[in-house]
Amino acid sequence: DWTPANVVDELVDRVRAQVGEDRVLCALSGGVDSSVAAALVQRAVGDQLTCVFVDHGLLREGEAEQVEEDFVAATGVDLVVVDAREQFLAALAGVSDPEEKRKIIGAQFIRVFEQAARDVVSDRGDEEHPVKWLVQGTLYPDVVESGGGEGAANIKSHHNVGGLPDDLQFGLVEPLRALFKDEVRAVGLELGVPEAIVWRQPFPGPGLGIRIVGEVTGERLDVLRRADAIARAELTAAGLDREIWQCPVVLLADVRSVGVQGDGRTYGHPVVLRPVSSEDAMTADWTRVPYETLAKISTRITNEVREVNRVVLDVTSKPPGTIEWE
Ligand code: XMP
Repeated sequence: DWTPANVVDELVDRVRAQVGEDRVLCALSGGVDSSVAAALVQRAVGDQLTCVFVDHGLLREGEAEQVEEDFVAATGVDLVVVDAREQFLAALAGVSDPEEKRKIIGAQFIRVFEQAARDVVSDRGDEEHPVKWLVQGTLYPDVVESGGGEGAANIKSHHNVGGLPDDLQFGLVEPLRALFKDEVRAVGLELGVPEAIVWRQPFPGPGLGIRIVGEVTGERLDVLRRADAIARAELTAAGLDREIWQCPVVLLADVRSVGVQGDGRTYGHPVVLRPVSSEDAMTADWTRVPYETLAKISTRITNEVREVNRVVLDVTSKPPGTIEWE
């Protein structure tokens, strides 16, 4: 019968049968799917697995540490961290168009990952044990959506990029292909993946890069990260994590709003709270967050994040509004 422990045993056996003694590579994003897939493969083949985490600097507060520290401590994976923050920022300089930002982030990601993959292939593999496999956190709904085909290795469309070059051809290990999201979470908990990762809300591949309306700069990322951390902490404290599908916090970086603080007028930026309830992100309704919680978030953000002097609430359903602002 279906218990997380049984499923883990069965999937572990299958991964072992599939990869044998070969070495395995995994791109960790910090999201639920890639983390659980990596933890499962680690359970199956131990240090035959190497994970690569590209820190593009567009994650929320604490998320890189969650991967680099908590996930590694919980699972013992061999992790290669690539600090590509400067590179992503440089590539994004001067760009405001959302689709352009997505393309740049996707292209940078694939470039950085390719280089890291080449390094792993030469450092960790040898003739008898080549790096032959790439782990992907594909779930059953992804399989159905893509028509069930098993394509050549590509980094999950998450990052909106195509395949890897010819000299980096891997077979795919997709241990979660038969599972739904709730089952993946149960398996993740069974494997000891930290709860903060297992219950992480969906977060777009381009990250905070598409939550700054306007050009992405290091300073703006820092402002948004602090505001987002406050909103998240207060929504969690109010017990709303399961009711809210995700809550983008969006920095309107090109809008200046007038405020008053103490004796002086300020000329800062608004942030938008976009809490939504949804089953699958195809449609969504704005979440009726209690006024008290909204008040607390607003007070804390405007007190603690000097650059923000206005907090506004998005009360648009999807359709017509998308979940993200860009
Ligand atoms: P929208 O904004 O279209 O978002 O209502 C639907 C879901 O998709 C996520 N999203 C993205 N995920 N790359 C991603 O990996 C992207 O470029 C992207 N844009 C939106 C969004 O967070 C929501 O869960």
